[in-house]
Amino acid sequence: MQLLEERILKDGQILGDNILKVDSFLTHQVDYKLMKAIGQVFADAYKEANITKVVTIEASGIAPAVYAAEALDVPMIFAKKHKNITMTEGILTTEVYSFTKQVTSTVSIAGKFLEKDDKVLIVDDFLANGQAAKGLIEIIEQAGAQVEGVGIVIEKSFQDGRRLLEDMKVKVTSLARIARFKDGKPVFARADA
Ligand code: G4P
Repeated sequence: MQLLEERILKDGQILGDNILKVDSFLTHQVDYKLMKAIGQVFADAYKEANITKVVTIEASGIAPAVYAAEALDVPMIFAKKHKNITMTEGILTTEVYSFTKQVTSTVSIAGKFLEKDDKVLIVDDFLANGQAAKGLIEIIEQAGAQVEGVGIVIEKSFQDGRRLLEDMKVKVTSLARIARFKDGKPVFARADA
């Protein structure tokens, strides 16, 4: 997605060897116009899939996911990383290990929001090692629902996430794919949409 790649080049900062900081438009401050355009691209990519729910994980997946849900005219559900006192029954849960943050989180969704005949589009901000998406797939499968694909805003193609998801036979649609960082700038591979 050209608009997104241009924005990453303009505002993204590279931290250390492999972290892209995009807090001015995606992970902290949110550019809703860009998120709305991103949501529409995801919706267009999955318009034939009869998606009934969009699922993401808090926090930074929520903005692109909600606009994808708006464009598809379906509900958006975000998995929680901390158990909420109001989540009392029928909770679907899995453990997600983050290589980037080196912490394990227990991720949950209330089972009442996912049904057996749901067709789900997962949306997330980053695809690095794929552990967050894998955890969401596990939760959705616990509900007996079908994962139609994973929509990613920024894929770091030099990490293992895409391969992990493709090995699980899950379709991955990434709007910006970073092949590597060179001279302090991301180098893009061809995006999926
Ligand atoms: P994975 O889910 O693909 O396995 O990724 P990994 O464990 O390596 O990273 C987990 C967290 O780190 C995710 O945030 C992810 O968005 C974030 N992350 C990974 N690589 C980058 C990067 O290059 N830049 C930025 N800004 N974030 C990155 P999270 O734990 O889900 O938290 P939140 O930030 O969405 O609340």
